[in-house]
Amino acid sequence: MNNKMIQKSEAGARPAPLEPAIRGASAAEIARSVEASIHEGRLRPGQRLPAVRALAARLAVSPTTVSAAYRALRARGLVSGAGRRGTCVRGRPPLRTAPAPLVPAGALDLATGNPAPALLAPLRAALARIDAAPHLYAEEHQLPALRRIAEREFARDGLPAEHLAVVSGALDGIERVLAAQLRPGDRVAVEDPGFSNLLDLVAALGLEPVPVALDDRGPLPESLERALDRGVEALVVTPRAQNPTGAALDAPRAAELRKVLRGHPSVLVVEDDHAAAVAGAAACTLWERGRERWALVRSTAKTHGPDLRVALLVGDRETIGRVEGRQRIGFRWVSHLLQRIVAELESDPATRRRVRRAARTYAERRRSLVEALAARGIEAHGRSGLNVWIPVPEEAAAVQQLLAAGYAVSAGERFRIESGPAIRVTISRLPPPAAPALAEAIAGALRPRRRSAAA
Ligand SMILES: Cc1ncc(COP(=O)(O)O)c(C=O)c1O
Repeated sequence: MNNKMIQKSEAGARPAPLEPAIRGASAAEIARSVEASIHEGRLRPGQRLPAVRALAARLAVSPTTVSAAYRALRARGLVSGAGRRGTCVRGRPPLRTAPAPLVPAGALDLATGNPAPALLAPLRAALARIDAAPHLYAEEHQLPALRRIAEREFARDGLPAEHLAVVSGALDGIERVLAAQLRPGDRVAVEDPGFSNLLDLVAALGLEPVPVALDDRGPLPESLERALDRGVEALVVTPRAQNPTGAALDAPRAAELRKVLRGHPSVLVVEDDHAAAVAGAAACTLWERGRERWALVRSTAKTHGPDLRVALLVGDRETIGRVEGRQRIGFRWVSHLLQRIVAELESDPATRRRVRRAARTYAERRRSLVEALAARGIEAHGRSGLNVWIPVPEEAAAVQQLLAAGYAVSAGERFRIESGPAIRVTISRLPPPAAPALAEAIAGALRPRRRSAAA
């Protein structure tokens, strides 16, 4: 990624094909009616809402009333955008909606960012070894064996683990940390491009994202500085296996970013180590002694599979104390059966060897595709993780052409704020011998099409 990736994205919203049946005489009624339309699928993700003035005229209310309704929907993460660009339903509003279209039959699924099932540890033996004793209310929430493993691992990476919570995955940890420390309306600096679920989560919490540009070595210090100067309360960074670009921090970049952060001592720094040992890059952190508010979450979702989504969250005393306190009221604890399985897998030498092998396999798969693309003169990014990010002039056309060639890939739009168009290819299940054919199909999809005679 370079400056090309920082260019402004075009507003790609689909117009509403039919005027949805939005009703109401007050802002609250209008907002509820839009919500019901999204819920029932009459307003689809990406679809544009009627312009404020047009809707106000149709409902015989003032434009201020419609604006207030749209503002309330935006604060809840249901819609995004405003002004002349129009207001659109978010790609993944925090509502139960019709499921996203599945990968068409016959297409190779390179769109869902899953780990490769064949590279995950088989569970049957681990299940047979775990203690199946019931875990009861008022007992210790953290499994001591898992805590010991976590303390050892974090100490190896130079991170204090004195304050530690067990959560249900990286995103669960991030959500709990942001909810514990931020309030709706607060600004949070996020990578751009960045993980789509995080962007949706930030919107759902009513927070305002401030984009930070990045290259293959992580956030750019000058872009971070600009974001911090806009008064952000928190920064969320993916130190390795950045999704979608594969960026990974190295020690010099981490040092530069820490220097920038030193000028903003109260900003909460959250690190998302979702791929941990299969990332294919060494652990590298923005934490340093003296940082007031920080958290780092390390998940097992990519090493042992998303269904074993247990994550270890470390941070400062206040942040972790608030997260644990809140957890104890509602969620209580992560099932001890899950904690025992993870502790069992993490302490099994055969599983650890398998995880190292999986990291090498993902690295080979990334490299094969990046090199096959480079051989065809195509820029691609994939320093770590499960994905390769390929800048393209036009996402929808590239995705369609690749689908016609039998490959389902992700359009980059849901990962971007201001950065330029691209596609994301998940390489986790792409064997190296298959890379040249895919690279050829990508090259075909990027070739400018000849204009038709009539155009
Ligand atoms: C950057 C990033 N963070 C978090 C997650 C999700 O992790 P978890 O399942 O542990 O919540 C993913 C999943 O792909 C991801 O790419």
